[in-house]
Amino acid sequence: MSKFVLVTGATGFIGAHIVDTLLARGIRVRGATRSLEKADLMIQARPQFSHLLEFVRIGDFETQTPEGLEAAVQGVDGIIHTASPFTYDTKNNEKELVIPAINGVVAILDAARKTSSVKRVVITSSFASVLDVNRKGPPYFTYTGADWNPLTYEESIDPATSAVVAYRGSKKYAELTAWNYIKEHTPGFDLVALCPPMTFGPVVHPVENVERLNESNAMLWKIARGADPLPVSRVPFWIDVRDLAVAHVNALLLEGAGGRRYTPAAPERFSYGIAAQIIANGFPNLSDKVTQEDQILDQSYGLDGETAASELDFDYHSFEETVKDLIAQAVSLNTV
Ligand SMILES: NC(=O)c1ccc[n+]([C@@H]2O[C@H](COP(=O)([O-])OP(=O)(O)OC[C@H]3O[C@@H](n4cnc5c(N)ncnc54)[C@H](OP(=O)(O)O)[C@@H]3O)[C@@H](O)[C@H]2O)c1
Repeated sequence: MSKFVLVTGATGFIGAHIVDTLLARGIRVRGATRSLEKADLMIQARPQFSHLLEFVRIGDFETQTPEGLEAAVQGVDGIIHTASPFTYDTKNNEKELVIPAINGVVAILDAARKTSSVKRVVITSSFASVLDVNRKGPPYFTYTGADWNPLTYEESIDPATSAVVAYRGSKKYAELTAWNYIKEHTPGFDLVALCPPMTFGPVVHPVENVERLNESNAMLWKIARGADPLPVSRVPFWIDVRDLAVAHVNALLLEGAGGRRYTPAAPERFSYGIAAQIIANGFPNLSDKVTQEDQILDQSYGLDGETAASELDFDYHSFEETVKDLIAQAVSLNTV
């Protein structure tokens, strides 16, 4: 269906993998970014695809009408919208997390509605918009794409709340805004939302040095450097970034995915204790540093990653492969 695709957040961890998955299928890509410097690095790193890859500069989503979006959507058949702030290092959660996440969705959908070419928009939501932190097993239950985080908007923007809670609110209210937008405006495109949990794996976006790894991978590197005690994961679910990229591209291309909300997640559960074991066994030079700690793996509830895999036609990496591939790359980034 789509032969020319706009990817927002294209210089980010997940976005850059989506760019590569599209390019590998011969699909023309326009990336959107606030930084043309990062755009140049993306293009320079892919000389074989210079005829298929271009970038446009867009404004920060902290402003209500970020510049450049109308130019960004011109002529594309599909949009994969991954751009959204993902950091827990904030001073003002509402300004830095919640507002830009929502503004970004509205701005991209408004721009898409003004063209006739866009047929589908895929948005990267998060398991954070699905998870109810107060719901506990037993009895055992399984989250699916039908579940929503019950957090209120007021709770997410409360200045007393943590960045973790505000991030959950940013993802919930940005995604909800997108579904409501479709109901209200019935535009000429449909929507697919992907709600992945923690995403790990090797990076293909510009990263200056290992200290600048994205939020989720930075946790694994922290363990490799000897975090003591180990961090405790809030949920036992994860996905490899390469699998998530294929899920996004297939969500854009497969006719039947329109209007669907998926929770792509690997079948294997993870803990940072398991990650520590994989790092210690796989990297003898790091094994003295890595803290070994048995962490309880929460088995009291599940997350349906099967529906996404079967309907969007992709397989899951093992946690061991994902951790080893990221740490091998992080070690090389660390010594350069
Ligand atoms: N990593 C995970 O574990 C995980 C799990 C579930 C869902 N997600 C979601 O996946 C998406 C991508 O995350 P990621 O891990 O790839 O993060 P990332 O590496 O930080 O990339 C996010 C991109 O979003 C853009 N962005 C951030 N804040 C922005 C703002 N205020 N205005 C405009 N653009 C902004 C940035 O692009 P430029 O700097 O180039 O403009 C950045 O490259 C996010 O929507 C995130 O919520 C991530």
